[in-house]
Amino acid sequence: MTPPPTLLDDDRTASLATPLMMSHHGFRRDLQRFAVALEAVAHGEHSRVAALREEWSRFGATLHGHHHSEDTGVFPSLLQQRPAVAWVLAHLQADHRQLDPLVERGAAAFARLPDAGEALALVRELQALLEPHLATEERELIPHLRAGKSFPPLPDDALELYAQGFAWAMHGIAPDVVAQVEAMLPEGLRARLPEARAAYRARCVEVWGTDAAGAARTPIPAPFTR
Ligand SMILES: [Fe+2]
Ligand SMILES: [Fe+2]
Repeated sequence: MTPPPTLLDDDRTASLATPLMMSHHGFRRDLQRFAVALEAVAHGEHSRVAALREEWSRFGATLHGHHHSEDTGVFPSLLQQRPAVAWVLAHLQADHRQLDPLVERGAAAFARLPDAGEALALVRELQALLEPHLATEERELIPHLRAGKSFPPLPDDALELYAQGFAWAMHGIAPDVVAQVEAMLPEGLRARLPEARAAYRARCVEVWGTDAAGAARTPIPAPFTR
């Protein structure tokens, strides 16, 4: 098996590949956490059911947003530069169409909590489909994305949404990697991160019962146990 790629480039700086892999880390991290939390619900711990439902809806929106930005931004621009990746992009887009309805089914399953069986099965199904998809992107596309070193400018009205997205994606990432990513971001976005990260940590305590996280240097998160 190929080892996972590092979040930073060989020269220890971030590239446009880094935030994309940090999002992959976030999807893996949260699915692990959902699985552990739903096991606890199945064993009678019902105090966080409402928070879990709300977190699932945020997770779904983040995953949809990631697919949308790949389908409409990352993939077309990569295809222009590297026509040879066309076959893999077609497969990856087909995966997106298969993954998105699972998130919708998840919403119905989470609505049935504290009966956790269906939601747990759904999370495991999503993990099984998503893992090879993320691994394919990391193996086939990431090497080509490392050339991009400058983050595009953002309109002022998008800054808050981006700050929340980065706060989510930075959780559990090694501090030096986070510092390199921050150095690449527009000032208006960077300035919003401390508050957005504090708010995200508070949300973690509410949903997962802890704001503890690892310090990953690859898109693979530290194991989560309770
Ligand atoms: Fe994807
Ligand atoms: Fe992706």
